[in-house]
Amino acid sequence: VSGAAACRELTAETTGKVLTSRAPLPEPFQVPLPVPPAARPAGQADGADVYEVEQRAAELAILPGLTTTVWGYDGIFPGPTFTARAGREVRVRVRNRLPVPTSTHLHGGVTPPDSDGHSTDLVLPPGWDVSRGNGEGGGHGAHGGHGGHGDMSLWRFHEQERVYTYPLRQRAATLWYHDHRMDFSAPQVWRGLAGFFLVGDEEEDALPLPRGERDIPLMLCDRAFEEDGSFRYPSLDPSLTGEPGVEGDYHNGVLGDVQLVNGAPWPVLETAAARYRFRLLNAANARRYTLALQDADGRRVPGALVQIGSDGGLLAGPVAHDTLTLAPGERYDVVIDFSALDKNAGGTELTLVNTLGEGGMRQVMRFRVTRREPDDSRVPETLSAPERLRRGEAVATRSFDFRLTHEDGHQKWTVNGRPYRVGDIWARPALDTVELWTFSSDFHHPVHTHLAHFQVVSRNGRAPGPADGGWKDTVDVRPYEVVEALVKFSGYRGRYMMHCHNLEHEDMAMMADFEIV
Ligand code: C2O
Ligand code: CU
Repeated sequence: VSGAAACRELTAETTGKVLTSRAPLPEPFQVPLPVPPAARPAGQADGADVYEVEQRAAELAILPGLTTTVWGYDGIFPGPTFTARAGREVRVRVRNRLPVPTSTHLHGGVTPPDSDGHSTDLVLPPGWDVSRGNGEGGGHGAHGGHGGHGDMSLWRFHEQERVYTYPLRQRAATLWYHDHRMDFSAPQVWRGLAGFFLVGDEEEDALPLPRGERDIPLMLCDRAFEEDGSFRYPSLDPSLTGEPGVEGDYHNGVLGDVQLVNGAPWPVLETAAARYRFRLLNAANARRYTLALQDADGRRVPGALVQIGSDGGLLAGPVAHDTLTLAPGERYDVVIDFSALDKNAGGTELTLVNTLGEGGMRQVMRFRVTRREPDDSRVPETLSAPERLRRGEAVATRSFDFRLTHEDGHQKWTVNGRPYRVGDIWARPALDTVELWTFSSDFHHPVHTHLAHFQVVSRNGRAPGPADGGWKDTVDVRPYEVVEALVKFSGYRGRYMMHCHNLEHEDMAMMADFEIV
């Protein structure tokens, strides 16, 4: 590990460049925390719940006195929250009423390949001419030309709508869905195409964890705004980069200067003096968070974030953290016990902060404990008995180095020195086997595998970090780190993606396909 790693660890800004808003920014902790509405099934078919979702533009009030045009699932941001059951199939008919192609990925889902939301599996808007390829006539694509669109016969195009099928043969877990269009995931997610998808099961139901109104998903992301309230993003304003796309200054990633939680800037939640379960999701394009809870005097509350789950569901037992770091794409389920923190018997204020944040971005949201209520929830010492993978089970070892290369005067984000090309298969693991995959990195690269979940077994040759436990699908690989993970390939055969979840890096071809055979 070079000394540079330690320096680059210092701020969130090391993962990108802050785009400054031109709109006046609101005072923090004024707006109540919104909770995205539940998606409701339109009907049932063959034992599956069937949903209808429309992707469309809509005007939302995000900043005071201004409106923002978002691209949302059902016109809202975050999109509606799906609440599904393990083993009960969900089908979602997605209609695309946006002016661009889309692909919807269920992140963390054990999904057949043709419903997984591959970047080349697109729902086209009315009148879209596929002979132009994916691009918008040399328009907004981040890497337009960096990667290869490859063999066009591997692309799939659906006219205006399609049905995604999610059998959900998997454990209870906090999943999310978001846009995954080739070259354009970053700007399309920035405009609002993301939402929660919660899977429950009997094992979790049997636990006395906080539930109902005290089980709240928190989508963390940053955005920047133009003077008129519209979203600001480099590819929407080529003057920022001197050329279309996010090359140049924003090449490392795009950061905003407005912190949103569930789509609201620096919100406040009034709570009871009771335990709450929060499903933390880092849905930002490039920003990392190191979260801590601070009291009114600015003192960090030790052990306040009691982790009960990870990307892939419940841990074996709870782990209390002073701070918790989330890279883009990661989820952590935590319980915060406000009854233990409410020293004043009401009126206590606690602030969730991001110790990596700069200026106003140090603050995330506030909790105000305003009332007493009975609470029979608990966090038991034993939560679950997740399968524990062992090194000896690995039938193959593969290495994936996430790094920047320089070629023809261009910088490219690559895996093993090669930018993504449609049709290249980087690994062919066999169904129902375990492999040891090594992820190494020259920068902050959150590595995400579709379909296959994994367990972190080492970081730089040492034991995994305190928050690395449990089943994961995204791991925060830091500069000059080597992370070993045991990856289990189960569920389906077929072609899936793995990539960096810094969405700007992803759009700049830091992706690879593997095929389960
Ligand atoms: Cu959340 Cu392939 O991504
Ligand atoms: Cu990256």
